[in-house]
Amino acid sequence: MSAAGDSGSADDPVATTGTGEDYALRGLWYYAVPSRALRSRALVARTILGEDLVFGRDTAGAPFALIDCCPHRGMPLRFGHFRDGAVECCYHGWRFAPDGRLIEVPSLVSGQTFEFDRVRVAGYPCREADGNIWIFMGAGRGPHRPEGEAPRIPDIGANFHRLFETQLFPCPLDHAVMGLMDPAHGPFVHGSWWWRPSTSAHEKAKHFAPSELGFTMTRHAPSSNSRLYKLLGGKPETEIVFRLPGVRIEHIRAGRHQVVSLTGVTPVGPKETLVNQAIYWTMGWLAPAKPILAHVMSTFLGQDRDVVTRQQIGLAHNPPLRLIDDADTPAKWYLKLKREFARARAEGRAFVNPVPDVTLHWKS
Ligand code: FES
Ligand SMILES: [Fe+2]
Repeated sequence: MSAAGDSGSADDPVATTGTGEDYALRGLWYYAVPSRALRSRALVARTILGEDLVFGRDTAGAPFALIDCCPHRGMPLRFGHFRDGAVECCYHGWRFAPDGRLIEVPSLVSGQTFEFDRVRVAGYPCREADGNIWIFMGAGRGPHRPEGEAPRIPDIGANFHRLFETQLFPCPLDHAVMGLMDPAHGPFVHGSWWWRPSTSAHEKAKHFAPSELGFTMTRHAPSSNSRLYKLLGGKPETEIVFRLPGVRIEHIRAGRHQVVSLTGVTPVGPKETLVNQAIYWTMGWLAPAKPILAHVMSTFLGQDRDVVTRQQIGLAHNPPLRLIDDADTPAKWYLKLKREFARARAEGRAFVNPVPDVTLHWKS
């Protein structure tokens, strides 16, 4: 049945993944925070890939991210203020431009010299799009030059509504990402009345093609056993794009309407991962149902979180994993993509996408 010729056999256990030093890739755009979490003049702390960062907005409103540690005596900058275009440390008032340059030391008196150029807070490039703030986590000490573009949702016109949800998954990045692309857990983990009855599983065949830093489940009619899709009316068609480090964008078209779901998975550290979700839709009649939709979104993501939380009890023993064809083939591709990205960077060569053009079969 399997068409994924290079994906290995079910009898080849693969080593437990996601627990080593290399649990997360550098040199990629990660989801940082929803735009609404960063009000103007506010400083917001987040830990990403084990680094304590402070996010803010410059006077033009553009987001920035700096290492959350004052180079004077180590005070986290999150406790300071954004005032007159600069981040001011709460301890002795040193002031830093949004690009990290030191611009003022209040205790200096006239005649005292100080080499301002020698002090700088390191930072990472940020971009804001579609109500999301992305951060380019470069490698090494920086300055970090962004490569490629931060992920964008497809153009769905000017009239849409949106909702955001973030949950902390107590698991390594790889398991959060593999859960995102795993078709076989649906009936068991999300088998509620509003999604699909758990008894309705049937055979599926889906076409996949390689795409930028990942793969695409090409446009197709989604499973007829999902009640959420039925709600949309028209003849829904969906396309799902995945790209490193852990970004999934599903685009549904149904008649003249569109729905987009974006998920951005970002490690806090080796054992904790933030799963950020944004949903966009064009149906005006659904706007009053926002509180219900927010509840559904949070319940759905919570089901994924609860199942990986339980999984950690088993993963603590570092068991080998048996990833099978074809239901686990996308998970195998993810691990391959990650390895190839790391290798290509280490060898200073171009990334070669290892995903084949293929149709996968499973029952869910
Ligand atoms: S610790 Fe930041 S100004 Fe002194
Ligand atoms: Fe799920």
